[in-house]
Amino acid sequence: MRKPILIGNWKMNGSLHANQALMVRVLPRLRMFRKTIDLAVCPPFPYLFQVRDLLGYTGIALGAQNASSFVSGAYTGEVSATMLQEMGCRYVLVGHSERRALFAESSLEVAARYRSVLAAGLTPVLCVGETLAERESNQTGLVIERQLQAVIDEVGLAAMANGIIAYEPVWAIGTGKTATPEQVSRVHQEIRQFIANSAPEASDDISQQLRVIYGGSVKAANAFELFSLADVDGGLIGGASLHADEFGTIAGAL
Ligand code: G3P
Repeated sequence: MRKPILIGNWKMNGSLHANQALMVRVLPRLRMFRKTIDLAVCPPFPYLFQVRDLLGYTGIALGAQNASSFVSGAYTGEVSATMLQEMGCRYVLVGHSERRALFAESSLEVAARYRSVLAAGLTPVLCVGETLAERESNQTGLVIERQLQAVIDEVGLAAMANGIIAYEPVWAIGTGKTATPEQVSRVHQEIRQFIANSAPEASDDISQQLRVIYGGSVKAANAFELFSLADVDGGLIGGASLHADEFGTIAGAL
């Protein structure tokens, strides 16, 4: 049985004051669910200490939005996974579509970052998904398989067993255009099947063990329907995670 997980991706938003106000309001809502689901919030790097302190002993985990593929050294502007581990992070988003599209992180680069997160003892959340043009040209499966294969080639399938895959159709991120339940179910099943086919000798367990979550305009109004789908193990929430009441309602839908 896969434990559901809800992750809030704050992206490049927040302030010391706003973070305090958000966390004071949302934590009592989220704490109600901490025994039944895993919960995490991913603030921008500068706020990790503040949010870690605000999370305290709530059982809600701290996450980061990216990590360098390097451990340390002359890599100006980068943040290493070992530093994130020191700061109390448990999860790290890897390969978010905004990193791929806006900051030219290739699937090979994403795979190297995935490896560094594993090496630091953290749980990678591998983001995969297609653009609208790729979906409309029936390339969704091919695109996602290539994104998955790059990581399998880098770390091996067994190492992915405890990771998390987040299916985030690029055309649904921040647009209000949520993927339909049929689209979500189909892609999540294809992801599991691809993992199962990747190493037949061991993969059935892994494909069933792996948590596959959905992200892309999840709101209080659509969360129950999305999270009721058999192959959806939770959500990666952007905009709605910045609103305490809505994020609390989404948590209740899991
Ligand atoms: O990482 C989650 C994010 O990409 C989804 O954003 O605002 O559509 O929930 P949003």
